[in-house]
Amino acid sequence: MKRISAKALFVAGATALLGAGYAAAESLSYELPDETAEFRQGPGVEMAEINCVACHSADYIETQPPAMGHGFWEAEVKKMKNVYGAPIEEADIQGIADYLASTY
Ligand code: HEC
Repeated sequence: MKRISAKALFVAGATALLGAGYAAAESLSYELPDETAEFRQGPGVEMAEINCVACHSADYIETQPPAMGHGFWEAEVKKMKNVYGAPIEEADIQGIADYLASTY
């Protein structure tokens, strides 16, 4: 009688530990993609969300060196349009570059 209840206790304890381990692993894998795949909040973020995710994720922007400045980002946006064929309105280029320069 005693041995059985000790074993039952052990099984219950191990199950609880396993459950906690799974819960921790799950909450981690939920947060990582969210933080890296989305654009940083800032004035003009909607323009990047509309124009910059058709071909690749926001990771491409996130992985550029920080504080590259307006000239760099303007050139990037123009390159997306002229070299890769992104359907970006001429009139939106400055606004998108402003957002990227002030936010990244
Ligand atoms: C028409 C498809 C398309 C759209 C839309 C697009 N890109 Fe790209 N982008 C590409 C391609 C293709 C590459 C190069 C991928 C590679 O080299 O593996 C790239 C690469 C990049 C890179 C990495 C550096 C580089 O120059 O290769 C950055 C930064 C970038 N894009 C930013 C943007 C931004 C900002 C926008 C929105 C204004 C945007 N992209 C919209 C196709 C696109």
